[in-house]
Amino acid sequence: MTIEALHIKNVRHFPEINISFNSGFNFITGPNGCGKTSLLATIAHCLAWNPAYSRFKEGSEYWVDIKQSGKQFRFGMGPGWFLSSSYRNNEIKSWNAPTSESGRESFIPNAVDKILSLPPLFIGAQRKINYKQIQGLSREQDAEHSKQLYILDSLSQIYSESEREVKQWLINRYFIIEKEWAWEEKKNWKHLEQSLSKIGPFNSNFNYVRIGRDLEPVFSLYGKECYLEELSSGFQAILFIIIAIFEWVESCLPEGERDVQKASGTVLIDELDNHLHPEWQFTVRDGIEKLFPNIQFIITTHSPHLLSSAKENEIIMLPGSYPEERYDFSPSEDAYSGWSTDMILKELMGVRSLDNKRYEKLVHTCFDNIVKNDLNALKESFAKLEAICHPGDSVLVVLKARIAGMEAKKDD
Ligand SMILES: Nc1ncnc2c1ncn2[C@@H]1O[C@H](COP(=O)(O)OP(=O)(O)OP(=O)(O)O)[C@@H](O)[C@H]1O
Ligand SMILES: [Mg+2]
Repeated sequence: MTIEALHIKNVRHFPEINISFNSGFNFITGPNGCGKTSLLATIAHCLAWNPAYSRFKEGSEYWVDIKQSGKQFRFGMGPGWFLSSSYRNNEIKSWNAPTSESGRESFIPNAVDKILSLPPLFIGAQRKINYKQIQGLSREQDAEHSKQLYILDSLSQIYSESEREVKQWLINRYFIIEKEWAWEEKKNWKHLEQSLSKIGPFNSNFNYVRIGRDLEPVFSLYGKECYLEELSSGFQAILFIIIAIFEWVESCLPEGERDVQKASGTVLIDELDNHLHPEWQFTVRDGIEKLFPNIQFIITTHSPHLLSSAKENEIIMLPGSYPEERYDFSPSEDAYSGWSTDMILKELMGVRSLDNKRYEKLVHTCFDNIVKNDLNALKESFAKLEAICHPGDSVLVVLKARIAGMEAKKDD
């Protein structure tokens, strides 16, 4: 299952927006307030009617195009559904299915759980695992009930207003994986154990160790054991995402189709780079892809490092504002792996303040002094530059050569 496209008109601060998505990774980026989280929220609105969370207007329409096993569907609300709204309290005039398209069946939101075998999973920007004492095994919902819960919970998950039971899932696996009927869960658990050490940053040695009599999961990190809640924020954030995906696959799909390496569906993550060191931001995309090779990801980010890990057709850039009536977005055909972080910040993400950096100013002053042939001023600005930049900076090497050249000329 993949999300192919999203259409929004007059929802939240958006005019008309049409976005097409890649069936693998999609990184949505743009300035604060441009609407990244709002895009995820609108996709969630397409799947279940929820009067809270968004302001709709006269003329609001929104739908998402989904492909599942070769069949194409459209879910959302077509033109003319809207009646009135006070803050967080929208009312429906009539349930209008989206405008249809040939070869694609259109449905209002509430039909989603009957049609999709795995509804999209939404993971909000807050991914802290708070301490909670687990009493024992808890009964897991059947697939149909789980699917409904995932759909209804989508918006509260984006805004981190409902809890995810990471620890309970771990304890449940501890109790069930040796049972004959839990062969798929056992296979997934082995995949999880083997993958953890590979997904962490270089040398971190992140591993699951055990669950003891006290029902407290223990991990190891940089050679030392620690409890689940003691893991640092970055490891908690990644573990939270990984376990959320395992839990979603195992609880929504029917028996015989629960292998996470084969499961196909869409995971939407707000601000994947939260809490991750730049080195991990560079590698997390590939780590997630290895763990879940058939899952589509729609990810929002502010990280130039994460963007530089994107392949061709994976980056969707949003502008800061929408003065026109209509915008069409699709993933950029380019990849940026050969670009420096500064180049991505400046050229791709539109960060202007880099020009004001002291480094840039001093480099300009040095070159101005070369043009003016003022050796003393050049030496002075060079000393200031040398004090603040990396010793191996290639500009320093060039400037040193120019100073030597000017000194030799002066001596002549
Ligand atoms: N519930 C809502 N109803 C109507 N409009 C909203 C709602 N929530 C947000 N907006 C509008 O959407 C705009 C973008 O907000 P959003 O949270 O999507 O930005 P963002 O790109 O995720 O920003 P950041 O990078 O800071 O997380 C807001 O400035 C506001 O105008
Ligand atoms: Mg946001």
